[in-house]
Amino acid sequence: MSSQHDVRLIDGLAPGASPEPYLPAAGKTWLLPLYDPLTRLGGVRRRHARVVELAGITSGDRVLDLGCGTGNLALLVARSVPGTVVTGVDPDRASLEQAARKARRRRLPMTLVRGYGQAIPMPDESVDHVVSALALHHVDPDARAATAGEIRRVLRPGGTVTIADFSAPGDEHGSGGHGSGGHGASRHGRRRTYGHNSRHALAEGNGDGGLVQLLTGAGLVGAAEVDHDRIAGSALVYVQAHRP
Ligand SMILES: C[S@@+](CC[C@H](N)C(=O)[O-])C[C@H]1O[C@@H](n2cnc3c(N)ncnc32)[C@H](O)[C@@H]1O
Repeated sequence: MSSQHDVRLIDGLAPGASPEPYLPAAGKTWLLPLYDPLTRLGGVRRRHARVVELAGITSGDRVLDLGCGTGNLALLVARSVPGTVVTGVDPDRASLEQAARKARRRRLPMTLVRGYGQAIPMPDESVDHVVSALALHHVDPDARAATAGEIRRVLRPGGTVTIADFSAPGDEHGSGGHGSGGHGASRHGRRRTYGHNSRHALAEGNGDGGLVQLLTGAGLVGAAEVDHDRIAGSALVYVQAHRP
């Protein structure tokens, strides 16, 4: 029997489908235990709070946290706006398991689904809000337009997407933080460094209105950079748009 505190962990990948490569939260799977302590120290929680504030989520809203990782933004939504129906999507099973453990401990109901931004395992027009923090720069550049299209597809008409992500211009190639030290392989097999100056490379295209263009290109309207910040020496941009 289900209860209002249910936490569900679902594999959203098609049966038999071989998972595509992806860049996990801390760059390498074995570094995942460091992710929460490092991001806590780096002040990521405050940026999550800003996303929630900008999104204007109200009780009863259905909210998707895309690239939810260990679930901190999804947990914040569930805790700060009681009555929301929260779903987190991420390709990394270990991160989702950690998110589920935290949600159960805190008695915060949510659904965590293994899946990719470029193929969100959710029905059309099924959410009022998409929120996402520090995740789009992890998506393969070739898959970012498809991811924006998927955001549009799952949003109901009038729904809102609110994204916080690194933006390359002004980036000081910051060291430390969540991304140091690993490597990721793109779908096409080329290696991407994920080391000292990699955040800049991965966020290339996000700055100078890049995220606004990405969302506009997917048919979202009113896309705008609504705030700017810096974190761990890197520029951060908050972008918002709506489904017409
Ligand atoms: C830096 S972490 C951010 C996690 C979380 N949003 C936060 O703010 O702490 C980036 C996340 O993006 C996820 N990711 C990588 N490729 C993805 C894709 N194609 N679609 C969705 N998420 C992806 C990673 O697994 C990782 O959990």
